[in-house]
Amino acid sequence: MSNTIPATLIPGDGIGPEIVDATVAVLAALGAPFEWDRQIAGLGGVESVGDPLPKATLDSIRRTRLALKGPLETPTGGGYRSSNVRLREEFQLYANLRPAQTIIPGGRFDKIDLVVVRENLEGLYIGHEHYVKIDNDPHAVAMATGINTRAGSRRLLEYAFEHAVTTGRKKVTIVHKANIMKALTGIFLETGLELYERKYKGQFELDTVIIDACAMKLVLNPWQFDMLVTTNLFGDILSDLVAGLVGGLGMAPGANIGADAAIFEAVHGSAPDIAGKGIANPIAILLAAAMMLDHCKLPDMATRLRTAIDQTLNVDNIRTGDLGGKASTAEFTAALIRRVS
Ligand code: NAI
Repeated sequence: MSNTIPATLIPGDGIGPEIVDATVAVLAALGAPFEWDRQIAGLGGVESVGDPLPKATLDSIRRTRLALKGPLETPTGGGYRSSNVRLREEFQLYANLRPAQTIIPGGRFDKIDLVVVRENLEGLYIGHEHYVKIDNDPHAVAMATGINTRAGSRRLLEYAFEHAVTTGRKKVTIVHKANIMKALTGIFLETGLELYERKYKGQFELDTVIIDACAMKLVLNPWQFDMLVTTNLFGDILSDLVAGLVGGLGMAPGANIGADAAIFEAVHGSAPDIAGKGIANPIAILLAAAMMLDHCKLPDMATRLRTAIDQTLNVDNIRTGDLGGKASTAEFTAALIRRVS
């Protein structure tokens, strides 16, 4: 038992249980030493214990400091606050790492190998917003406050720069909008430039770009970028754009990293339109599991998993419907297990 790694497992909502079960089976076939503590959250938490983020789930992550999480449903507009955002806040998961690599060659954008590092706790996502009533219109004015701090910017930028050095990235691009939001995103830019000069100069090339130009450049010539590092809202948008370059959300994993815990997940949501049909693509959360293996210093297992996904897709030609194939989640998973065993 001493070699096992305790980890919290949150199957989540919608397609969550289908893709998480597939991932657990593949990890078992790989021989990954995780000792799972299964917990609930999101809509599942509301339905069974009246809480989208039950205390038992929080206690489990506090103990294991490591979680694999399926997507959690969040009501749009009213209702409860996103459990994903609350988890990030609770465990101070300040860095969101979203790599995008081409796995299926021959698409519109080939040979993509990019990583977006997004600040996960500050900016316009802090939830300070409200409406102002004027006359009979309760929603006459909407207001939001964004907060970025030097300390918050610095720890995220430091994480990104360290990651660039340890993973051999050649170029890091700071994405901002300091021409318009001079203070809110200027502080992030200023902190990044200062940190680079002081500690990282010469270890990689540093570039800066304004968010709107960045979006255009990513579509015209994504190969000019290597790592993008940016504030919360811009990172949220750009990481979906980058996921689109490599075949969509079904292929995009994400890691939420903090000083006290790390939570790994797919970038996509609970896909209620296909939930229960057995056709979901489990690759995004499988790639998140590979990131989790890297995080736990099991890089050989992570590589075996990534290679097996590649071979199942490109040698065995077994793909789910979103990738133009006919395989069910179960058929894809069985083929992948044959490759990792
Ligand atoms: P979504 O990502 O769930 O679905 C968008 C489209 O992509 C749908 O057509 C869906 O069928 C498809 N899709 C997503 N993942 C897929 C997969 N693995 N295989 C095949 N097709 C896939 O986004 P949507 O519909 O906007 O959100 C649904 C719910 O998920 C919402 O309640 C939202 O708040 C939540 N959500 C949760 C996230 C998380 O837990 N990290 C992230 C994003 C959304």
